[in-house]
Amino acid sequence: MIPDFAPRLIAWQQRHGRHDLPWQASREPYAVWLSEIMLQQTQVDTVIPYYRRFLARFPDLAALAQGTEEEVLALWSGLGYYSRARNLHAAARRIRDQHGGRFPQDMAAIQALPGIGRSTAAAVAAFAFGQRQAILDGNVKRVLARVFAVEGWPGDKAVENRLWSLAESLVPEAGIQAYTQGLMDLGATLCTRGRPRCEACPFQDDCLANRQGRQKELPGARPRKAVPERAVAMLVLRRAGEVLLEKRPGSGIWGGLWSLPECPEGADPVQAARALGYQIQGEAGELPGFTHTFTHFRLFIRPWSLPVLAPPVLEQPGRVWLALDDLEGAALPTPVRRILEGLSG
Ligand code: ADE
Repeated sequence: MIPDFAPRLIAWQQRHGRHDLPWQASREPYAVWLSEIMLQQTQVDTVIPYYRRFLARFPDLAALAQGTEEEVLALWSGLGYYSRARNLHAAARRIRDQHGGRFPQDMAAIQALPGIGRSTAAAVAAFAFGQRQAILDGNVKRVLARVFAVEGWPGDKAVENRLWSLAESLVPEAGIQAYTQGLMDLGATLCTRGRPRCEACPFQDDCLANRQGRQKELPGARPRKAVPERAVAMLVLRRAGEVLLEKRPGSGIWGGLWSLPECPEGADPVQAARALGYQIQGEAGELPGFTHTFTHFRLFIRPWSLPVLAPPVLEQPGRVWLALDDLEGAALPTPVRRILEGLSG
């Protein structure tokens, strides 16, 4: 624990934090709320012009509630995540209809409005009403995970709960606005994801990530789902500028596409080519292998170049010889195209 965490953060915010963001000019709950919604998933620099335009057109809750969703969306156009705009408009109408047009002060009531989660509700309660509420947005999660070396991916419920407890334990008795703004500013300006500027941080001597050189490891990354891997050899049977393709069955991966014959990992590709009825003529050899990633598994592909004697004039149904000059219009799976383009190029 860092006993004077909040006073140091507040002192830092007052000296080095941001003080002239447009929404800092007002503690009016509507203006604060609007800024917090726009700042969800969007950078400050992008938000500022949108924020000004929005407030100019809808200066208060009553104006917003009276406007049409159409117009709200038009003002949001380009900011992205448009459910934010629809929720904002719906919330304004609900405040008009259920809260007498006054922004609610009770945390539960704030959080019950559409589009407002726990952290956004806390930010509004802190900035607009001076309530001692803990915030925990993405930036704050990163700051706390580093300073206190909270292990694990913050998207994990257990990790998130630990971060919430930590955030709540740090909330100061006084100075909630500067404190809350300080957390946001630290995360946005110093304790960034890529290159944190630890040398300028008020917690550089205490921060466990900094002391242990673990800024890159904390917060923990989203765990990668284990994807099954398969390996396969692909037979590139070649003769005179052509390669043999087989039509894949209609269902399953690459259904209906023309692909290279395959043989299981470990089997001998030369034997497999003979089993298909072709006579090897010349030097067979392995081509560079690579991994192709599907949604649910990874396929390691080992292509084998196998020069063969001219086959019978009538090829079996479901097999064609494709000229390497004719790749363009052919219905080929991406990795097959890649292999064949490597041959013709
Ligand atoms: N991000 C979320 N809320 C913010 C605020 N009030 N100031 C700056 N960045 C923010």
